[in-house]
Amino acid sequence: MSSNHTPASASVSVIGLGLMGQALAAAFLKAGHATTVWNRSAEKAERLVADGAALAAAPADAVAASDLLVVCVSTYDVMHDVLGGLDEALRGKTLVNLTTGSSEQARRTAAWAERNGVRYLDGAIMITPPGIGAETSVLFYAGDKAVFDSHEPVLKLLGGGTTYLGTDHGKPALFDVSLLGLMWGALNSFLHGVAVVETGGVKAQEFLPWAHMWLDAIKIFTADYAAQIDAGDETFPANDATLETHLGALRHLVEESEALGVDTELPRYSEELMERVIAQGHAKDSYASVVKAYRRPVR
Ligand SMILES: NC(=O)c1ccc[n+]([C@@H]2O[C@H](COP(=O)([O-])OP(=O)(O)OC[C@H]3O[C@@H](n4cnc5c(N)ncnc54)[C@H](OP(=O)(O)O)[C@@H]3O)[C@@H](O)[C@H]2O)c1
Repeated sequence: MSSNHTPASASVSVIGLGLMGQALAAAFLKAGHATTVWNRSAEKAERLVADGAALAAAPADAVAASDLLVVCVSTYDVMHDVLGGLDEALRGKTLVNLTTGSSEQARRTAAWAERNGVRYLDGAIMITPPGIGAETSVLFYAGDKAVFDSHEPVLKLLGGGTTYLGTDHGKPALFDVSLLGLMWGALNSFLHGVAVVETGGVKAQEFLPWAHMWLDAIKIFTADYAAQIDAGDETFPANDATLETHLGALRHLVEESEALGVDTELPRYSEELMERVIAQGHAKDSYASVVKAYRRPVR
């Protein structure tokens, strides 16, 4: 059985040297860890090798070189292909998979790891490669707590915001897509707003501080809504504004956009959503009641 912790000088193998894998390996090297790397296209290892990494000729060599294996390739299928046939070599190793995939893929991979005696952590990286190693960068992990604890110091080299989410290996993937969805929803609304204010000769940067002010207000709204949702009694008290009031205001955005010749698809989506939830009896409830439309569409 391999060692179950990573001392400061322990070796790490990084499998997959795309944009992200290169950044991960560079962070381990920078901290002084003996780092072995493998990539299908070996030329992507050149800079890392110049900086002291050992180049593995095959995935089996990367697996043999370290007790801690970090994999970051394009998909789970690729990861399984790359590690295919190495079940015996992987036994007793810690495999940290930072490849993006679905919660189901993560859970299935965890079951495969369990069957093969592989200590498995599934992770999600919430930053782009230049953010690897920064104090504020968040990476989520799930799996056995003892496995996470034993490798936390070395995983923290990838981001100061390294966070353990629990034993459900699917959780990082759920957080990952949900946070990305939040980003696109907010970005689309910001850009729609820019298109609206531009019609009044307003530059995006003049609008920006007010967009930031409003994003802060949204933090406050969501804190109340999260508590209401978690209460589980489906009452959604309107402590700030009723859904009916939201719909009235939203219709101004639809009408204003239409009058200005700005695309109305985004506000119309919200209008239709609120109308559906109001039709379910939530006119006097808070905006949190809209969660019901997402849980169980009520068309
Ligand atoms: N970049 C980001 O900002 C970011 C942020 C969060 C999460 N991620 C996740 O990190 C993972 C890697 O992203 P990336 O940006 O590094 O992508 P990338 O630059 O496109 O690298 C993809 C990696 O997968 C390897 N690969 C693809 N198909 C393969 C195959 N059939 N056999 C062997 N290796 C194969 C590539 O090898 P070759 O070099 O030989 O093609 C390369 O190492 C993805 O799951 C991504 O969603 C990325």
